[in-house]
Amino acid sequence: RKMEGYRRFLALLVSALLLGFVAVVCSLVWVFRYREGLGWDGGAAEFNWHPVLVVTGFVFIQGIAIIVYRLPWTWKCSKLLMKFIHAGLNTIAMILAIVSMVAVFEYHNARNIPNMYSLHSWIGLTAVIFYSLQLFLGFAVFLLPFAPVPLRAALMPIHVYSGLLIFVAVIASALMGITEKLIFSLSAYSESPPEAIFVNCLGLLIVTFGALILWMASRPHWKRPPEESAKVQRPNGGAPEGVEAESTMTDCSNADRSDAGFNSDAARKRNFKLDEAGQRSTM
Ligand code: HEM
Repeated sequence: RKMEGYRRFLALLVSALLLGFVAVVCSLVWVFRYREGLGWDGGAAEFNWHPVLVVTGFVFIQGIAIIVYRLPWTWKCSKLLMKFIHAGLNTIAMILAIVSMVAVFEYHNARNIPNMYSLHSWIGLTAVIFYSLQLFLGFAVFLLPFAPVPLRAALMPIHVYSGLLIFVAVIASALMGITEKLIFSLSAYSESPPEAIFVNCLGLLIVTFGALILWMASRPHWKRPPEESAKVQRPNGGAPEGVEAESTMTDCSNADRSDAGFNSDAARKRNFKLDEAGQRSTM
């Protein structure tokens, strides 16, 4: 059963990576084959950075960042290393998202097109603002060593929920942006020209990628098991709190945890108990 679960996870992961990668390639094919390519000249080629960077960073890289703790072969790495990878991928996504915003705003200003009039732009900018908040809070509370354990435990469910909500909002915004762009730039969208069909497919790819990421991120049994040295704290009258001792090691060579993969049945059972109580490890 363990092996079967591992295989299913791998199949989903490979599918998600493939879909996400193809979506990025499709966004490039769209702007090079059907549009004006890429450039930084205040014109249409500068606008085109907007969809390309957003699909690459805000959709694809953010999606990978969300599931990075769930890769079974990383469970023998220290949690701290995985946090750096999670935070690093999200930082890269954030930078690409910001550059993509600069591209549209410059394009609009150069052409005297009003800013921030569409629902797409409202949802999109809201997602960017909350994403930067999420990133800042994540760094401050979970990565830096200053936050007390009860605060980490209290904020973790919110961090998980708001992370998934932002990811969904980003995908919704991408779909609205794609639809707008097709309506703006095609004189006959309703006649289904090749560009319309191609870019509609890009939208489908993005939705399917998002669906796979959300599925992988929400299965309790694919969660990273708590560290072997986990201590269980019981605050006064409260439910048990999943709290791990943090390792300061940042490599993957800890022999003590070399069996922390799918082989660690005990760890997974403990993990499941924590999950039933709605708890997550926060260290
Ligand atoms: C404009 C955000 C994806 C097409 C904008 C604006 C924001 C934004 C804030 C307003 C810029 C301004 O008013 O100067 C986002 C976010 C996305 C995203 C966060 C991430 C999912 C896309 C995609 C496309 C797209 C995939 C497809 C081409 C457009 C278009 C505009 C625009 C055509 C100009 C019209 C308007 O303001 O609605 N976007 N966007 N966007 N975006 Fe996006």
